[in-house]
Amino acid sequence: MRVRFVAAAFLAACWLAAPALAEKFPSHPITVVVPFSAGGPSDAMMRILGERMKVTLGEAVLVENTTGAGGSIGVGRVVHSPPDGYTIGFGHLGTHVANGAIYKLGYDLVADLEPVVLLPSNPMIIVSKNGVPAKTLPDLIAWLKSRPQPATAGTAGAGSGSHIAGLAFEKATGVKLQYVPYRGTGPALNDLVAGQIDIIVDQLSNSINQVRAGTIRGYAVTDTKRSEQAPDIPTTDEAGLAEFHMTLWSGLWVPKGTPKDIIARLNAAAVDALNDPPTRKALENLGLQMPPADQMAPDALGAWQKAEIEKWWPIIKDAHVSVD
Ligand code: MLT
Repeated sequence: MRVRFVAAAFLAACWLAAPALAEKFPSHPITVVVPFSAGGPSDAMMRILGERMKVTLGEAVLVENTTGAGGSIGVGRVVHSPPDGYTIGFGHLGTHVANGAIYKLGYDLVADLEPVVLLPSNPMIIVSKNGVPAKTLPDLIAWLKSRPQPATAGTAGAGSGSHIAGLAFEKATGVKLQYVPYRGTGPALNDLVAGQIDIIVDQLSNSINQVRAGTIRGYAVTDTKRSEQAPDIPTTDEAGLAEFHMTLWSGLWVPKGTPKDIIARLNAAAVDALNDPPTRKALENLGLQMPPADQMAPDALGAWQKAEIEKWWPIIKDAHVSVD
């Protein structure tokens, strides 16, 4: 009886203290778990945002790269963190949709996490090592089909954005690919530049500088319009692969049970960063596309994630991806 009374008194105290907690939030640095390698597209986006968010929040925003299993290990780290706003998870279509159809996660992507904010999205770009004897997308597809063994395609692991895009590319072209998993497309891109792997269906923000530098070859962006940052790269429609469209959206989540006031403060800091001219310019320079202004509330990300789960799980389950 006494124990139950003490527990009830403690919970009441927490509940009563929640607004005061949110008011003082944050009172020490915040960690953002990026579930892929440093130097890759997710890491780059989060570090740019974090620089501005720390101004609004008044505390450092530290990026922690916890990688592996297509990003599912990093997401699990966030799910099992205290719901106090000090551990935030960066994620995207791969980590917060696809992985649920591929891995036995041990957590629920919707029930165990709270959405905070929708972040910029990335058109994908089909890139190859310079050694590939192809200058156009039709040439690349012909070369990929002509090979006795499937060409190697770098990914950030099963379920990652680059893997899902690879599966969609296989489906759209009939090409067969041999996937080579890395802990992020940052290291995969290094191997593409070095000619160790043949192609990546990569996030534009990751490959754009290497394409500009001519160290790899870009064939098409999977968007309906050309990227202002890469105007010489055709769209898949223009390059002869009609209707092969894909943009990789991203977002921030916190553990289930995080107080709404704290989620609102984190959301406001992220929205401020996205509207901050220098921050926005840095993101757009990478070819990133800003989320629609009317989609910035936490619930908008929640609704979008559920809709994408409806859309992508049948496609991914149909691809029979094995991770064992
Ligand atoms: C990364 O940052 O490495 C990517 O987001 C990986 C991916 O999903 O392709």
